[in-house]
Amino acid sequence: MGRIIVDGVSKHYADRRGTPVRALDAVNLAIEEQEIACIVGPSGCGKSTLLNLIAGFDTPSTGEISVDGVQVRGAGPDRIVVFQSPSLFPWLTARENVILGPRKRGVPASRYEEDARTMLASVGLEHFASRYPYELSGGMRQRLQIARALVNHPRVLLMDEPFAALDFQNRLAMQELVMRLWSRIHPTIFFITHDVEEAIFLGDRVYVMTASPGRIKATITVPFAKPRSIEVVTSPGFVAIKDQVLRLIRGEFARSDRAAEQAGAERSG
Ligand SMILES: Nc1ncnc2c1ncn2[C@@H]1O[C@H](COP(=O)(O)OP(=O)(O)OP(=O)(O)O)[C@@H](O)[C@H]1O
Ligand SMILES: [Mg+2]
Repeated sequence: MGRIIVDGVSKHYADRRGTPVRALDAVNLAIEEQEIACIVGPSGCGKSTLLNLIAGFDTPSTGEISVDGVQVRGAGPDRIVVFQSPSLFPWLTARENVILGPRKRGVPASRYEEDARTMLASVGLEHFASRYPYELSGGMRQRLQIARALVNHPRVLLMDEPFAALDFQNRLAMQELVMRLWSRIHPTIFFITHDVEEAIFLGDRVYVMTASPGRIKATITVPFAKPRSIEVVTSPGFVAIKDQVLRLIRGEFARSDRAAEQAGAERSG
């Protein structure tokens, strides 16, 4: 459960002047069930665009996306998104935020209350169930957002730079938390990050995208068995993969800088 196929997907937008913006160009991906797929690439290369298409918030200009053989035609509870800044309901307590999804879907109260307790405990928030989001730290809010996503038992978890706003300590703790939760629940995870170490620590595969228009430039398979512990990041095998990924990304940064310079020259010339 949770196999994602992205088949020849392109996405074009029109900017304010109506000029077409090619955000994605013929992207092909086969993300296996229970895989953690990490996406890295220069800013503006179309990572969030791709995530939005898988979430069903928007439709591809060409190509097709399917989850477990069913074409994505809109958002659904089988694919849940975790954003960089938690989208929690400020007027609901932590517990109420978590039970909202299952309650709306008609899950019996006895079950969703039990599920919510388990989920809050597994993200270390069992003593904060009756707190409001504003009474929680940034890291706690992000953990709450993850609990709220996972209580729905999604087949696919879509994470868009979920830890980018956290400090280093909190980020490490969150990466280990994702690894722990994955080993209990086994969702397929599509994870966007700018942090190469985070991508390799979590990912079964790291997909490096090209500068705009985004294509998949390289797919790196990470050979370490999951669940992984954070010590793996200093192993020689890890460092070698990091070197390889950084090299690929640096190439793309240089390319996108050249493209920006050229566009600037065309505008002023
Ligand atoms: N709704 C939209 N309308 C018009 N253009 C858009 C829209 N969404 C994204 N774009 C454009 O598509 C391109 C890709 O944007 P996207 O947000 O997917 O990049 P990204 O890789 O997620 O960048 P970042 O790393 O900065 O988050 C950009 O040129 C962006 O300006
Ligand atoms: Mg983005």
